[in-house]
Amino acid sequence: MNQTRKKVTVPAIRAMKSKSRIGMLTAYDYPSAKVADAAGADILLVGDSLGMVILGYPDTLSVTVEDMLHHTKAVVRGNKSALVVADMPYLSYHVSIEESVRNAGRFVQAGAHAVKIEGAKESRIKTIEAILDAEIPVMGHIGLTPQSVNALGGFKLQGKNADDARRLLDEAVALERAGCFSLVLECVPSELAAMITEHVTIPTIGIGAGPSCDGQVLVFHDVLGMYDGHTPKFVRQYAHVAQDMQAALEAYLADVRSGAFPDEMKESFHMASEEELKRLYAARDDGGVVVEMPRG
Ligand code: KIV
Repeated sequence: MNQTRKKVTVPAIRAMKSKSRIGMLTAYDYPSAKVADAAGADILLVGDSLGMVILGYPDTLSVTVEDMLHHTKAVVRGNKSALVVADMPYLSYHVSIEESVRNAGRFVQAGAHAVKIEGAKESRIKTIEAILDAEIPVMGHIGLTPQSVNALGGFKLQGKNADDARRLLDEAVALERAGCFSLVLECVPSELAAMITEHVTIPTIGIGAGPSCDGQVLVFHDVLGMYDGHTPKFVRQYAHVAQDMQAALEAYLADVRSGAFPDEMKESFHMASEEELKRLYAARDDGGVVVEMPRG
């Protein structure tokens, strides 16, 4: 745990390219931000994956700007040093450039240091340029872009053949030229991620993209084993918190039912003195239940 580390900035993340690996985690609320920041995460991503792991949707498409702002504000309150990046949700940057800039600005006003945007088609590049023009740093995201799940036909590996891989390489370069400060590569072959990482001057952050990226990101719930849904191949679980939580809750409920909780001494409060207790009994025995009902 590092309590006094320097605040991580966008230029600091850029400067980490090829020097030190970037550790990024998603965070969705005050406690997850607090613990991920204290663990030393360089970047906290308020991912729209919260739609799945927090809100229980089957994908990220139902997540709204209001949902994301609510969670971004909680993450900002829990964070001390990490760079906070807010994921722009589906439809928040698809309708018009003006609306996209305004939405991105709302995340900055909520305390995020940057936003993340999926995709790199021509119109998307123009949107990203406009957001950058409003002084808002942008993290790109290509490969498996979950907001395109219907267009892609599912959550699948991208860039498996040379033509698709070449297109992703071009997209990475386009995002770098547009001015993105970093780039998430999701679910692409390791060889392609290595090629993109070598080719661009901005840091790449992989998820299911092999070990050659400049950094890695995983979903908080996946790392801790807090989510009992499908676990993708690229996830490494470092704990089994869901099982631990269930066992703890079962033990609590068993103690409630057996009367073992709460303990009369350790977990209960008592009258100020024996004297006060005697006065209470006396009041009861006098028939004086001294509770005044509010009038009106
Ligand atoms: O929403 C999210 O959690 C993400 C990461 C998986 C990159 O976009």
